[in-house]
Amino acid sequence: MKTVRDFELNGKKVIIRCDFNVPIKDGKILDDTRIKASLKTIRYCLDHHAKVILLSHLGRIKTEEDRSKNTLLPVKDRLEVLLGQPVFFSPETRGASLEQLVQNLKEQEVLLVENTRYEDLDGKKESSNDASLASSWASLGDIFINDAFGTAHRAHASNVGIASLLPSGIGFLIEEELKALSMLDDPKHPYVVIMGGAKVQDKIGVIENLITKADKILLGGGMAFTFLKAQGYQIGTSLLDEENLTFCSEILKDYSDKIILPQDVKVSLAPQEDASYHIAQIKEIKNDEMGLDIGPETIQEFKNNLKDAKTIVWNGPLGYYELAPYREGTKELLDYISKLDANTILGGGDIVAAATELGYKDKVTHCSTGGGATLEYLEGKDLPGLKVIREQP
Ligand code: 3PG
Repeated sequence: MKTVRDFELNGKKVIIRCDFNVPIKDGKILDDTRIKASLKTIRYCLDHHAKVILLSHLGRIKTEEDRSKNTLLPVKDRLEVLLGQPVFFSPETRGASLEQLVQNLKEQEVLLVENTRYEDLDGKKESSNDASLASSWASLGDIFINDAFGTAHRAHASNVGIASLLPSGIGFLIEEELKALSMLDDPKHPYVVIMGGAKVQDKIGVIENLITKADKILLGGGMAFTFLKAQGYQIGTSLLDEENLTFCSEILKDYSDKIILPQDVKVSLAPQEDASYHIAQIKEIKNDEMGLDIGPETIQEFKNNLKDAKTIVWNGPLGYYELAPYREGTKELLDYISKLDANTILGGGDIVAAATELGYKDKVTHCSTGGGATLEYLEGKDLPGLKVIREQP
């Protein structure tokens, strides 16, 4: 697959598709990890005298209200600070004024185009990979670099569409993601998967793909309760994904030697910060109690299974980590794996957000910038945003 290094960039108009889909509240960026992760490719293009045109989506745009809430202007301001130079901004996503801005762009200058999904208001043109939209964007540049790993599972006009029309390659962010994630194609053993998060439904593909390759899968988070229910335990008011009980029973039957479930949990009457809680053995959960984190025996059991691991991949927090009392399991295990001599990979939005908040982001081998994209990668799927570039002549 071609990378940005394979192109002569001098004087060229280079369109870089970034994933600037960052959390923003009241115009303030809450986490700029994805913006920072894009800088290497942007700087490389600027250092090689390209004229840089940046495209990204932000949020999902279905209504005029979504449109006004999801402008990329806060990203432009942040980019100017991080790059230490002005960033031009096009409020239009296509048309004469955007073309003029591109024409005025000089070498080593940067233009950020407003949210590509504004085009979704008009018949979902971005998300349906509309051919005329893709060709109008492609006409702005000479070369296309996709560096939006987080969006690689989408076949949209701003990634797949443009890549099928221009000489294209991947940027450093995607290259580094693939380098880290490809360690899982031929993992060093013991290979242990930690899975959490709320819904079994979201993780079926990942479990099915990884269970055949991993030596152990440690299950926590809300999803563990559906597995426990499938084993016949009463789980009180804990999360239950009823539709997937059969899946859980079957996978437990086929892989009983690989799956490790919680033995004890922190339970409370309600998922609230100030509600009292206690530790309960799984068989003791009462009808009105909800499991919100793994308990100390489970933490120890998970550590026992992790201690010799050489490859660890983790998707989804092990408890309701947004509330302080229920982040203990996630925190203790993040701390534990950060000290192991193993390749440690965190994938999927929530566990990366938890690791960032708890201070472990830089203490693991790799934190993926992808949410859904990483999940689909872990499911073994070929991501359309990458496939189109791999298949270029
Ligand atoms: C993400 O945050 O997972 C990516 O930016 C993709 O966003 P989407 O799920 O709205 O396509």
